[in-house]
Amino acid sequence: MTLLSEPPAPGEARSPGITYQQLLDTDSHPENVPVVLRWQNNEYQGDADIPVSRYTSRAFHELEKEKMWSRVWQMACRVDDIPAMGDSLVYDICGQSILVVRSGQADGSIRAYYNACLHRGRQLREHDGNATELRCPFHGFCWNLDGSLKHVPCEWDFPHIDTEAFDLPELRVGTWGGFVFVNMDPNCESLEAFLGNLPEHFEKWPLEDRYKAAHVARIFPANWKVVQEAFMEAFHVVATHPQLLAGIGDANSQYDWEGNFSRAITPNGTPSPHISFVPTEQDMFDAVSDRRLDEPPYLVLTEGMTARSVTGNGGRMNLRKTIGDAADTISDAELSESIYYTLFPNFHPWGAYNRIVYRFRPYGDNHEMSIMECMFLEPYDHATPKPANVPIHWLGVDDDWTEAPELGLLARVFNQDSFNLPKVQVGLRSMKKPGVTLANYQETKLRHFHNLLSDWIARP
Ligand code: FES
Ligand SMILES: [Fe+2]
Repeated sequence: MTLLSEPPAPGEARSPGITYQQLLDTDSHPENVPVVLRWQNNEYQGDADIPVSRYTSRAFHELEKEKMWSRVWQMACRVDDIPAMGDSLVYDICGQSILVVRSGQADGSIRAYYNACLHRGRQLREHDGNATELRCPFHGFCWNLDGSLKHVPCEWDFPHIDTEAFDLPELRVGTWGGFVFVNMDPNCESLEAFLGNLPEHFEKWPLEDRYKAAHVARIFPANWKVVQEAFMEAFHVVATHPQLLAGIGDANSQYDWEGNFSRAITPNGTPSPHISFVPTEQDMFDAVSDRRLDEPPYLVLTEGMTARSVTGNGGRMNLRKTIGDAADTISDAELSESIYYTLFPNFHPWGAYNRIVYRFRPYGDNHEMSIMECMFLEPYDHATPKPANVPIHWLGVDDDWTEAPELGLLARVFNQDSFNLPKVQVGLRSMKKPGVTLANYQETKLRHFHNLLSDWIARP
């Protein structure tokens, strides 16, 4: 017998308030809503606690290194970070130093080497730069950009070197969306297979067609997953960013997952179900633009304007300068929402025309310190040359995000997020309950990540 009041099955319960799909129905440009925003895929993934040791134990960090980082596709840089032949970039992950090199001008001429001289092991490069060859500063062994041996100093003293077999060992390399991915496992699946359907989601928002206008990296005294997971759900908004609630559908976010990626869509310009008053469109717009009480509104809305249509119209007007008439094919939704994708294990490109891309990784080989990076990818006017990428702006453990003014309003929101993170690490160390407990729906992306991580760790 089915009871009228039968509770939803695990993972089926949803917040009161408008669903994201219902909100899409109200778009002022409904014909422009892309099919990927109509896509929904959220099978229940289980509710077991996640072991605290995943965040605190050195042994688990070693397992991640051995079973995951050394075998998984990971984003190393933008293709445009090494635009000219001979450009090289150092990508470090868990004590492994990798050198990504533009070895020629043709497409596909990007190679990645273990960043170690085959003589006595000095790093070939400790900084990004440009050179016509890869010459070790210690004794002068030298390789061509394609990794073949070029020169052995005092060759008479090395009759035992087979010069034909003294190439720099390479990693697998792939590109997607203007990003370079590397993989240390020579037998790994192709990048295309690993990405699955993710490229289809970005067909309307080609990330390769953008340049990197900002790149800020900050060091945190917390495990990389503690930091990453603070940027994978909107559940924390009610307590961490209460100033946004009048204009953010935090608990009405939609969460989806498939294969190696997951996605959240947090609508903006719609009220949170957590607030007890009915906000005006001006209230919602002020909240979306993160206006503080002592600041004037960015724009005074008049009769007939809604927070979402104003954001949409303003966004289309701005985009027209770079993408031309294609701006008319963009819906309000694509200009209003926070659409945050995650490709396992640590790459987070945002969808539509929100410019954000995050990457999280351990700091050096330290399991209780990490690096968070935020890049802004901007469209550009194709009538002019693509602007050069900016270099990384590094912030230390004690720095504040507002020391990176290129992040604009986001810096203050990041500060609210960042305030929690070292305390999470301290708390986890003291936690006597053996696992952290996740919400079934709103922490879908965290569950998806941990289920994939469990699969990698279980591999022989
Ligand atoms: S360590 Fe590189 S040339 Fe000796
Ligand atoms: Fe946040």
